[in-house]
Amino acid sequence: MDRLRIQGGRPLHGEVTVSGAKNAALPILCASLLTSDTITLDNVPELRDIGTTLALLGRMGVVSQRGPDGRVSLCAADVHSQEAPYDLVKTMRASILVLGPLLARFGHARVSLPGGCAIGQRPVDQHIKGLAAMGAQIHIEHGFVVAHAKRLHGASILTDMVTVTGTENLMMAAVLADGRTTLENAACEPEIVDLAELLIAMGARIQGHGSDRIIIDGVERLHGATHQIIPDRIEAGTFLCAVAATGGEITLRQVAPNTMGAILDKLREAGLQIECGPDWIRATMHGRPRATGFRTSEYPGFPTDMQAQLMALNTLASGTAIITENIFENRYMHVQELQRMGAEIDINGHTAIVIGTESLSGATVMATDLRASASLVIAGLAAQGETTVERIYHLDRGYERMEAKLQALGARIQRIQ
Ligand code: EPZ
Repeated sequence: MDRLRIQGGRPLHGEVTVSGAKNAALPILCASLLTSDTITLDNVPELRDIGTTLALLGRMGVVSQRGPDGRVSLCAADVHSQEAPYDLVKTMRASILVLGPLLARFGHARVSLPGGCAIGQRPVDQHIKGLAAMGAQIHIEHGFVVAHAKRLHGASILTDMVTVTGTENLMMAAVLADGRTTLENAACEPEIVDLAELLIAMGARIQGHGSDRIIIDGVERLHGATHQIIPDRIEAGTFLCAVAATGGEITLRQVAPNTMGAILDKLREAGLQIECGPDWIRATMHGRPRATGFRTSEYPGFPTDMQAQLMALNTLASGTAIITENIFENRYMHVQELQRMGAEIDINGHTAIVIGTESLSGATVMATDLRASASLVIAGLAAQGETTVERIYHLDRGYERMEAKLQALGARIQRIQ
């Protein structure tokens, strides 16, 4: 398994281009199932999870082509299977996002239950509840979600909690349903808006996306479209946490600052000087970061996908930070690894108390999940001495060529096969 070797203690300087958003690209790739026409996507990041999704869609008969500079085209004219097998789904939970489109276009689907992952048990009961409300006969057998629907009909659906992929699955099911569907308590993430914009370009009738009430009026069929994936706000936030931890000055290109309000607020509170343009951010860090407490919440609140990265920054800050993880029940797997590097962190249920220390010491640590890996890289970049991060296939799921981008910023980091 690959690992990253980092010589810490060097400030970051230079420019980096942020990739397309993983969590927008994943549902959008699955939306290709909704039409027999070709959809063409730009700014698709080169990530393990993208490869897994293309392989899953390919198993069903979707023909996809990856062109130069992030262009991917997909055609679902000859789909011959509506099954998502366990061997692929177990590697990526987001595979559940084929359920809605398969039901909407083909009237049946057999999708392996994703199972849990390091950060929590990750149920899909809200996806199932919503599809059943739209008329699907849906049950679970032998670890699969098995669903049938002659034609889905519109429904008014209130999910028990805000669910990002739940909102996405139900939106994709509703675009071809008979009648109007209202999603209450819908997720407001920018990735939801990006998916809705693609669906509208394909001929769907959607309003309210970006708010907690989305209205979809079903149509008979959807046609092809071309769409550019929005920038990845979490990758951008990760690089900002890195420069806040190491010091220096970096410029991020091809970002969307207007989707990063909570992230930018917290990093300014930590002492990072941030200047924003329409699609760029310049960040400068002098001196030691200030402790910055936060609690994760649904968009537009502080994103859970940035919790581990801002915790890493807080381990070096002057002062004590109180962190509360409100979205997932077990998203502190990075803590014991950071403690191996000298971090002082105390966990009490959903709350972590981080007492900043002058410095961290490099160590060999193990990645456990995607964003935990990113927090260990940030800690390694700032630590004294050498850090080796093992099992970085977790990192490769959501970050495109992370070490190459950091090398371009002056970091001493290399991938060890
Ligand atoms: C999406 O996961 C993201 N993944 C996650 O990013 C992100 O952390 C999460 O949203 C929260 O923002 C993708 O978009 C592919 P949820 P998702 O459904 O949709 C509970 C990353 O690092 N819940 O919004 O699976 C659930 O257990 C990944 O890129 C139910 O109980 O998250 C959780 O506690 C990690 N029943 C909460 O809701 C359901 O049917 C929010 O989950 C659905 C969710």
